[in-house]
Amino acid sequence: MSEPSAATEQKSGEALLRCENLTKTFLTNKKQTLHAVTDVTLGIAAGETLALVGESGCGKSTLGRTLLRLLPATSGSVYFHDVEITGMPEKAFKAVRPHMQMVFQDPYASLDPRMTVRDIIAEPLKTYHMCGSKEETTERVLELMEKTGVAGDFLYRYPHQFSGGQRQRIGIARAIALNPEILVCDEPVSALDVSVRSQILNLLKRLKEEMNHASLFISHDLSVVYFIADRVAVMFLGHLCEIAPKEELYARPLHPYTGFLLNAIPKTDPHRRDEERRLLQGEIPSPVNPPSGCCFRTRCPYATDRCREEIPEMRDFGGGHMAACHCL
Ligand SMILES: Nc1ncnc2c1ncn2[C@@H]1O[C@H](COP(=O)(O)OP(=O)(O)OP(=O)(O)O)[C@@H](O)[C@H]1O
Ligand code: SF4
Ligand SMILES: [Mg+2]
Repeated sequence: MSEPSAATEQKSGEALLRCENLTKTFLTNKKQTLHAVTDVTLGIAAGETLALVGESGCGKSTLGRTLLRLLPATSGSVYFHDVEITGMPEKAFKAVRPHMQMVFQDPYASLDPRMTVRDIIAEPLKTYHMCGSKEETTERVLELMEKTGVAGDFLYRYPHQFSGGQRQRIGIARAIALNPEILVCDEPVSALDVSVRSQILNLLKRLKEEMNHASLFISHDLSVVYFIADRVAVMFLGHLCEIAPKEELYARPLHPYTGFLLNAIPKTDPHRRDEERRLLQGEIPSPVNPPSGCCFRTRCPYATDRCREEIPEMRDFGGGHMAACHCL
């Protein structure tokens, strides 16, 4: 397991939520070990939006859930306000949980079809004893509905009576009910019609500005990420490849995989198109049997013998720009 670099350690002290060498494996049905997240070290500062990008199956949701302790870590540590929450007794963690909430990808699956909008949004308030009388709870729910753009007339309606966009607004209202310090948004617009995506993104951006919570925004869509993020972290096959402030990452990607992802956005630069064609040749390796050395080497046009033998460490290239590649 690699040590966090000096730069990461320095940054981590400022982080609201951070993980060090976080690893999460699953046991498959065939009793094989699946490496979903491997040795990830990163931090999210108070009030910032860190986007987590990468192709399907690279471990974004698993990392988000493990950070929030919705999944137990296999190894490594997660800290909230510099207090380790991995391994914290459940009773003590109950005081932390309200500060860390999640918006899920699928607004159809994430809302209980038997509950009214009122009860869905009131649920976290009840769980954490943050509501007073029935009237006060309804008042707070109406406030949250107004904040997220759901008409108060719909208080006693059920999820199936709403469109996907409206359901996602309800999911967001539930997630912000406790004024969390950090919100993990797992592909919050990818299941929605293109026509309502920008409305939900604008809502998330506005709420962040009003409430000043930090956010981990998981997405595979780099145009969405450009709109919403302050910093961007890139994952491939469970590993962190690169992390940088948004403008820096889009203008000067360092890791070959980040170059590939950015090239997937239509561009006119002919050199980048060449690189994209070469990079696209390789298959995504299996997380059950990941390659030795650099996890990206089977797809990388710059791979050398060293890449087969040695896992590249995250290195600091200045200005908060870090990447893990032997060729940099
Ligand atoms: N509960 C589980 N049991 C076994 N394997 C799992 C489980 N959850 C996730 N995985 C596997 O872990 C890997 C990472 O999955 P994860 O859902 O975190 O990826 P992702 O980047 O969020 O993908 P997507 O973009 O499709 O949502 C995948 O290979 C997935 O099949
Ligand atoms: S370490 Fe090697 S294989 Fe991995 S991205 Fe860099 S050049 Fe490519
Ligand atoms: Mg996912």
